[in-house]
Amino acid sequence: MNDKKKLIAANWKMNGDLAANEALLHAILAGIGDAACDLALAVPAPYLAQVQALTAGTVLALAAQDVSQHEAGAYTGEVSAAMLRDFGVRYTLVGHSERRQYHGETDQVVAQKAQRALAAGLTPIVCVGETLQEREAGQTEAVVRRQLAAVIQRNGHCISEVALAYEPVWAIGTGHTASPAQAQAVHAVLRAQLRAASAQAGRIRLLYGGSLNAANAAPLLAQPDIDGGLVGGASLKAPDFLAIIAAAH
Ligand code: G3P
Repeated sequence: MNDKKKLIAANWKMNGDLAANEALLHAILAGIGDAACDLALAVPAPYLAQVQALTAGTVLALAAQDVSQHEAGAYTGEVSAAMLRDFGVRYTLVGHSERRQYHGETDQVVAQKAQRALAAGLTPIVCVGETLQEREAGQTEAVVRRQLAAVIQRNGHCISEVALAYEPVWAIGTGHTASPAQAQAVHAVLRAQLRAASAQAGRIRLLYGGSLNAANAAPLLAQPDIDGGLVGGASLKAPDFLAIIAAAH
C-alpha cells in the first residue's frame, strides 16, 4: 500500500510562449478542483516569472527544468539554484535524459546539480532511465543503479530530500509507455537502492515518466512504488493533464 501523497510534475520542455502559457494555466486552474496530489510545473526559465505570477496562491508549484552545477560567477548562460529560489521555484529537474544526451551531462554533473539544488532548499527531481539499446542488452538495472549511485554518493546525507523520476529513454515522446509491471520492477530496484542508503527512503517519491497520458496513468500510478508522474507532451494539453492529475490519488 502506497500512502504517500503523489506528485504530478509537468515538464513543458522547450515549448510555450506568453499567450499559450497563460491560456494553458487558466484552463488547468479552472479544471483542477481539489487535487489529491502535489503538483509542479517545470517551465522554460524565461517564463518562470510569468508562471510564478499566474500560479501564486494556487496548488501549482513552480519547477525548473535544469539548474547549474556551479554556485555563481563566470558561467555564461547558466542559471543558479539561488536564482531559481528567487523566483519561488520549489523543484528542479536534474539529469533529464535530454540533458544527458544532448548536453553531455555525466552522472557526476547530475549529482553535483542535485547537490546545488538541495543546498538552495530546492527539491531535485533526479531523472534516470535506460535507452532501448541498454534495455535490449539486459542492462536496465545496472544503468539506473549506476545513475542513482552517483547521486547517493554525493548527497547520501540528505538523499531522502530528493525525488526521483524513472524515465526509460525509449518511452519518452514515443507513445511507447512502459507497462505497469515493467515500471514497477525498476522502481522496486531504485527503492531498494535508496533503502540501503537511507532509513528515510520510504518517503522518497519515485515518479514514472515516458508517454504518460490520460489513458495509461491510472494503472501506472496504482503500482506500489510509483509515487507520481513526470509528464511531457500530455502536460501541454489541459484536458490530458487534468485527467492524469485525477488519476493520482
Ligand atoms: O520529463 C518528461 C518526459 O521526458 C516524458 O515526455 O512527452 O513522453 O511524456 P513525454
